[in-house]
Amino acid sequence: MSPNTGPASGLETAARAAFERARDDQSGELATYIPELARVVPDRFGIALAGVDGHVLGVGDVEVPFTIQSISKALAYCIALEALGRDKVLAHVGVEPSGDAFNAIVFDALSNRPFNPMVNAGAITVSGLLAEAFGAEAFDVVLDRFSAAAGRRLVMDETVFRSEAQTGHRNRGIAHLLKCAGALGADVDDAVDLYFRQCSILVTATDLAVMGATLANIGENPLTGSAVFAVEAVRNTLSVMFTCGMYDFAGNWAFDVGVPAKSGVGGGILGVVNRQLGIGTYSPRLDAKGNSVRGIAAFRDLTEEMGLHVF
Ligand code: DON
Repeated sequence: MSPNTGPASGLETAARAAFERARDDQSGELATYIPELARVVPDRFGIALAGVDGHVLGVGDVEVPFTIQSISKALAYCIALEALGRDKVLAHVGVEPSGDAFNAIVFDALSNRPFNPMVNAGAITVSGLLAEAFGAEAFDVVLDRFSAAAGRRLVMDETVFRSEAQTGHRNRGIAHLLKCAGALGADVDDAVDLYFRQCSILVTATDLAVMGATLANIGENPLTGSAVFAVEAVRNTLSVMFTCGMYDFAGNWAFDVGVPAKSGVGGGILGVVNRQLGIGTYSPRLDAKGNSVRGIAAFRDLTEEMGLHVF
């Protein structure tokens, strides 16, 4: 992908201003519960924007690779909706905000299903659905589709994958409880293996912006012109990102920022301004809820400055 960088626009000015305002904030902590995530440079910070017209711009460390982590949950959900159909997916995972932390060990008591696909329990269930549907090809299907959304060939970080696979006891525990509850059809090991792999895919802030622009452009990558996701799956995914994408911060996010988004403990946030723009930020210091501190500040600033809130 070669970014189309034109003359400074209002968006570029707003992105620079948001960057300058947030850059000195050193609050928050790196995620350390996956040992390999603690090895990144804490001060990295980048903001990238990609329009549905194919225009891409960035400020700061927008080409630094980091693992996509939980942002993968939104895209994997989109793939599952398309491949398996909405009813099959809904039979396994709800669409209700949980108000709980991303790694909470809690299911919807009425249905015995995970609350939504953005918390770990729901995401592991979605990975299980993909593992069942695609067998040994499942990771390739996911990697191909993520790559098509980003407009370039992505790769997985083997070291982060191994680090999480060796230490992810809580996620394995959640997967066993899902199996026990009847929500997870797949083999526990297959589901968590795919989940850990998809979380370990390397992206940049620019990739997140282009992926966001693909969702904003109802599934067609505006840089490559390729049809990546089906319209209905995009609509359903954006709805769940809006209500659940920022975990137990989702209400505040919807109130202040007002665009569908998904964060990851690698430090990325992907946001979607419907029919207009994808936004990708990277800054690895996280707040207590696992969301990037400077990423949140940048999104708040940008959407306020540019009037991007959906309401
Ligand atoms: O489940 C995990 O621990 C990670 N691989 C992904 C979690 C994550 O990114 C939560 N996001 N804020």
